[in-house]
Amino acid sequence: MAVAAAALDRGARVTIIAANIEVEPPVGATVVRVESTAELRSALHRLVVAPDGGPGFDALVMAAAVADFRPSHAADHKLVRGAGLTLDLEPTPDVLGQISRLVHGTDRTGDESYRPVAPAPVLVGFAAETGSLDRAADKLRRKGVDLLVANDVTEPGSGFATETNRVSILAADGSRDDLPMLSKREVADAILDRVAGTLDARDAAAQTGR
Ligand code: CTP
Repeated sequence: MAVAAAALDRGARVTIIAANIEVEPPVGATVVRVESTAELRSALHRLVVAPDGGPGFDALVMAAAVADFRPSHAADHKLVRGAGLTLDLEPTPDVLGQISRLVHGTDRTGDESYRPVAPAPVLVGFAAETGSLDRAADKLRRKGVDLLVANDVTEPGSGFATETNRVSILAADGSRDDLPMLSKREVADAILDRVAGTLDARDAAAQTGR
């Protein structure tokens, strides 16, 4: 929500795809409500390519804490009380990873196999880790994102249900910026500064043919 508010203040058109949110979306944003990973995936797939075939958005900030597993079967009747219950779970699709492959026209092996979305939107992933951020660089590559915002949610004042956050912003060029403890709005602005810089570099490269 802080990123959405900061983007609106910079004049962006903002769509929030939201499931369980505890704070009001900022005024001025279009809000699309979803209830499951499958609905989130469909909503994003509908937005990623505009009707004219170009990108449907300039930047995707994927702050959603997406469930990694879902029940393999949904009961169509009430489950009666018993001695215990074991749920079978299956992994949900990696929504951000799929969007990245769609945007870059690549298949699972990383080979370009169909037409990429051009110009490519900037993709920002999040990584809420518990403890070390050592896995963050690998996650950035695995997800195929331009920027990854990582934080240790076990640290007091950092993560969910706090007004502040201490994050590291990793970029696809291998750089890593460890920010101090900041308000969520300051973190949002730091992320958007990076997004704007990445978009500037993308557009400058297109204009100079590089
Ligand atoms: N994400 C996603 N689809 C999922 C799970 C996560 O798009 N099924 C996105 C999140 O919104 C976030 C990023 O991927 O931007 C990283 O999420 P995280 O849960 O940290 O990564 P995982 O892929 O679940 O990796 P791991 O469980 O190994 O930490």
